[in-house]
Amino acid sequence: AIDHRACGHGKIIMLGEHAVVYGSHAIAAPVPLAVRAVAQDTKSGGVDMFIPRWGVEYRLHRDPAHRDSFQRSLGIIFDELQLTERSMRIEVFPNVPRAMGLGGSAAMAVAVIRALDQHYKLGLSDEEINALAFRCEEVAHGSASGIDNTVATYGKPLLYKRAAKQGDAPMVRELHLPKRIPLVIGISGKESLTAVTVGKVRSAWQRNPALYDGIFQQIDGLTLQGVEAMQQYDLERLGDLMNICHGLLNALRVSSWEVEELVQIAREHGALGAKLTGGGGGGSIVALCPQNREKVAAAMRDAGYQAMEVDIG
Ligand code: MEV
Repeated sequence: AIDHRACGHGKIIMLGEHAVVYGSHAIAAPVPLAVRAVAQDTKSGGVDMFIPRWGVEYRLHRDPAHRDSFQRSLGIIFDELQLTERSMRIEVFPNVPRAMGLGGSAAMAVAVIRALDQHYKLGLSDEEINALAFRCEEVAHGSASGIDNTVATYGKPLLYKRAAKQGDAPMVRELHLPKRIPLVIGISGKESLTAVTVGKVRSAWQRNPALYDGIFQQIDGLTLQGVEAMQQYDLERLGDLMNICHGLLNALRVSSWEVEELVQIAREHGALGAKLTGGGGGGSIVALCPQNREKVAAAMRDAGYQAMEVDIG
């Protein structure tokens, strides 16, 4: 019998990805996709992980040195909660597509933590869940800003800025929107690991910090304008900001052939703004569609992509 259920939310980033790694602001919101996990006692004598949808099945190695990259990130959770000696089965049901820029890895970490929290009655606060999921994210992609795990944990639209010093708390402000904002998420189907695109941006920045800091500053400025536009429900302005943000992300070279096609389709069919969302390099785009939403989604599907109509706020 299933003992407990728990979820971590998938997300989109409206404005500010990549620059947020360097201390700029970013706006993120949950999407109605989540990862669910269930913990059960067993007599198998180890921690067994199952992700049936992905055909993943493994026993967690007790010694972190012997874990492969996939085990390393989630293994942190069991080490930290001192559960590696238990006999259990964790089953994960991911409804957030993998490596599509929708926060799947953070949602999975939060779901597994929550499943363990409930099953073993650990009494973890959301803050503790978020902090532990952040450690998993750091292992999964090095210099994570912490925005993905924060949305995965709290499931609310928010403005985020990482702390200037390691160990300090980030700035997290919940965004209250007057009305729901209608979007289409276009999913390219091309898997892309955030670790890779974040690494690419880092080496470009290392070659010429002043040049790239300038781009991050511009992204920061338009993200803060985006907060105003969202709170005033000025969608035309928000669309312009998204389009410019996409241009700057393109300058960071985290776009891709598929992403550009999706962005063009969205704009051609009436989106007020369209940009890549999350890590890029493939993954997903987000289009602002107060009108023509169905048309935009249908055109994406006609071109062979997946499209989801979602509201945020
Ligand atoms: C990924 O969803 C967002 C990035 O800015 C990475 C991060 O903030 O950790 C690309």
